Amino acid sequence: ELPEKDFNAMGEMGNGIMLDRKKLTQKQQKEYNRGFATHSFNQYLSDRISLHRTLPDFRHEDCNSVPYPINMPDTSVIIIFRNEAWSTLLRTVFSILDRSPPHLLREIILVDDFSDAKHLKHKLEGFIARQPKLKLIRSPNRVGLIKARLLGAADAEGQVLTFLDSHCECTPGWLEPLLYRIGQNRSHVVTPIIDTISDVTLQYIGGRVVKNFMVGGFDWSMSFNWHYLPKSEQVKRTSPVDPVESPTMAGGLFAIHKDYFNYLGT
Ligand SMILES: *[C@@H]1O[C@H](CO)[C@@H](O)[C@H](O)[C@H]1NC(C)=O
Repeated sequence: ELPEKDFNAMGEMGNGIMLDRKKLTQKQQKEYNRGFATHSFNQYLSDRISLHRTLPDFRHEDCNSVPYPINMPDTSVIIIFRNEAWSTLLRTVFSILDRSPPHLLREIILVDDFSDAKHLKHKLEGFIARQPKLKLIRSPNRVGLIKARLLGAADAEGQVLTFLDSHCECTPGWLEPLLYRIGQNRSHVVTPIIDTISDVTLQYIGGRVVKNFMVGGFDWSMSFNWHYLPKSEQVKRTSPVDPVESPTMAGGLFAIHKDYFNYLGT
């Protein structure tokens, strides 16, 4: 049997943990298998590492010299979930609360797309009631990701809408660059660099994209995929931390000014 308390500290700094499943008791193995079957990631481990775990700062050192203005627009972060695991949902929320400048984070809106998991009923409401920046919207029936996002957007009070998934972890300094570019021009729609969290070890795998910048694109069968930055874009950059224009985005995580979102017809 593995001592449960050890996991809590082991996930710090985004570290991954390779579980030796042979050391699990039969009861633990059952829980482990159920977690994978339900969520397709290692819920057993996720439930045991800290909800406030620390992450490395993957930013390029030049980010320190970007002069972020004080009066950037604030944001409502909108997260859609449907039967998300408790630990991943709350780790997402805490990673936002713990690593966003308070004056830039107006609120976090959780939109429940008609979950039936028990832990997302009273327990979640109790948690949200104790968090002043959290709001919960429940869809009265299953509407799907995009309509659920519109429910959140209609209720948002921040100037910028930031859409995130319900199983993210935000690294230090994640928010300022997004809001900065929108503050410069309301028609900018900004996506962050999207790192990976291992589904098996929960290691936060970051920092690679900074060196090999990629943008979204399509191949000739119209499948979305990632492309290295073309020369024509590379030469436009004056600094390794300049943003790049992308013809497409993956669509999962992005920030957009609320006025521009509405102007586009949402
Ligand atoms: C904002 O960006 C758009 C698109 O690039 C451009 O047409 C517009 O002139 C810009 N507005 C300002 C105020 O710079």
